Amino acid sequence: GGMRKFTDPLPIPPVAVPDTSSHPGIDYYELTMRQSTWRFHRDLGVAQAWGYWAADPGDPARPLGLGCLGPTLVARRNRPVIVRYRNGLPTSHLFSDRIDSTLWRNLPDVPADPPGGRHMDMPADVTVWNVVHLHGGWNPTQSDGNPAAWFTPRGAHGPMYGSLPGAAPDEAIYAYGNAQRAAMLWYHDHAMELTRLNNYAGLSGLYIIRDVVEDALGLPRGRFEVPLIIQDRTFERDGSLFYPGKGVTPYHPIWMPEFFGEVPVVNGKAYPFLAVEPRRYRLRVLNASNARFYHLWLARDETRLPFWLIGSSGALRDFPLRVDRMLLAPSERADIIVDFGRLPMGAAVTLMNDAAVPYPGGGGGQPIPEIMRFHVSDPLTGRDKSTPPEKLALPPLKPIQPGPAAPRREFVLTERLDRRGQPVHMTINERYFFEPVDDFVTSGTTEIWEYVNTTEDAHPMHVHLVQFLIHNRQRFNARDYAKDFARWTRSGRLSGDKPDLSRYLVGAPIPPEPDQQGWRDTFIAYPGMVNRIVATFDPAPEVPQVGGTSTVFPAGYIHHCHILEHEDNDMMRPWHLVR
Ligand code: C2O
Ligand code: CU
Repeated sequence: GGMRKFTDPLPIPPVAVPDTSSHPGIDYYELTMRQSTWRFHRDLGVAQAWGYWAADPGDPARPLGLGCLGPTLVARRNRPVIVRYRNGLPTSHLFSDRIDSTLWRNLPDVPADPPGGRHMDMPADVTVWNVVHLHGGWNPTQSDGNPAAWFTPRGAHGPMYGSLPGAAPDEAIYAYGNAQRAAMLWYHDHAMELTRLNNYAGLSGLYIIRDVVEDALGLPRGRFEVPLIIQDRTFERDGSLFYPGKGVTPYHPIWMPEFFGEVPVVNGKAYPFLAVEPRRYRLRVLNASNARFYHLWLARDETRLPFWLIGSSGALRDFPLRVDRMLLAPSERADIIVDFGRLPMGAAVTLMNDAAVPYPGGGGGQPIPEIMRFHVSDPLTGRDKSTPPEKLALPPLKPIQPGPAAPRREFVLTERLDRRGQPVHMTINERYFFEPVDDFVTSGTTEIWEYVNTTEDAHPMHVHLVQFLIHNRQRFNARDYAKDFARWTRSGRLSGDKPDLSRYLVGAPIPPEPDQQGWRDTFIAYPGMVNRIVATFDPAPEVPQVGGTSTVFPAGYIHHCHILEHEDNDMMRPWHLVR
């Protein structure tokens, strides 16, 4: 049956309350992953979903959570946060028949898993393993949530498991320094090969860093600052979550290359509405979908309502940009001001999406043209004292200037197809995740990373540890380059004739579009392009007074495509920060 649109109010994830007394100078949290019930829409039955639940230091009997997703953590710049993550999930996965154990076989000399068994020390009857990554956080490697740092409800650990001292076997304790600009980050599951399913089940939440720069701006705050976590989901008739279980290639009978849901879900509700006052709102938008890109705009009757882009994924922008649409790839955030103040009471504004599915080509899935609605229906509760967006004195952006000798690294994005033309896996430099590390970055250096996209898809590439800037993009002859690159990798990379990328470039480099400028941890690597970013790789500061969190060299980080199905099938590689 149809699902009525804009009938459920938008839920707001609760803000977790830190314990500030147990560790002086530090905000301490306990977050437990749990399975619970959640209704995604009033016309749907109750579903089982996964979420994070925060201990409430004032009332231990009542953990804070929603039923899916997780509570919002609000941090202050330079004030450390410690989170004890506890795995309280059942030992059987919500999508246990969607786990594709053949993904592990990508590594040529690792045999297929024994039936029911997973990875090195996984107990045979456990199909749940988890780890948490704070996406966008500048953090020591031990707290970064490497995919192989998983821990299970039974207390088994992945080969890269790490924790601050004091964790029980089914826990990991991480420290975050928050020594970075005000921004909305997010924490989410990052478990090896299960990231797509664990996130789909609900394991993600918001992490907001505030600072004095932001405080002084006069932005809408309190209930006029609203987070929007946008995801796409498909539901079974009974209201439970559906994730497909039929693959496209015999090599991976269950894994599918991209998941595109049928229904938009915002903060855990399908097609919600938000009643607003006629005033300015700050919307903090996160695309937490597995694979879908959104090209968002605001519809007021037949017209577009312009809005102001004031922040990119990793920081405030240096100037407010008036736009009437914005593109958000998976894991990207946008900080926007919408002025409902000029609209009459009773006006409706619909958040629309006209992204091609997927973006910009290939694959399947149906469009989701409408996301949610704002009703200007609440009477004004006091004058809007927020700064008009065009007058915002946003902090200047000091661009990174890579010198002519700045190291460059080429990361060739490839897709291997089976004989029927179906994708078998995606890789970076034709290397699997667990092959030895190729990239050692000297700490403190500024480097240019070039994502050479030989595939037909746009890939949202995400680098852990750093906030970076888009340097430029440049067309190249992808077909010839891919052929020559494949020949070189087939030779075992020994033939000495690695194709010289500069000989395949076409035209001049193109600077980033105004809406793509600013600090970010994810950017879109377009097909047929060499997509360049620039970053300074400073080691994350040690979190004081807790011990065990200083950066140990070499520090292991990763970078990957944030289409979760790609990331789970090897479009992910480690890199190390070295002295
Ligand atoms: Cu949002 Cu490596 O992840
Ligand atoms: Cu990808």
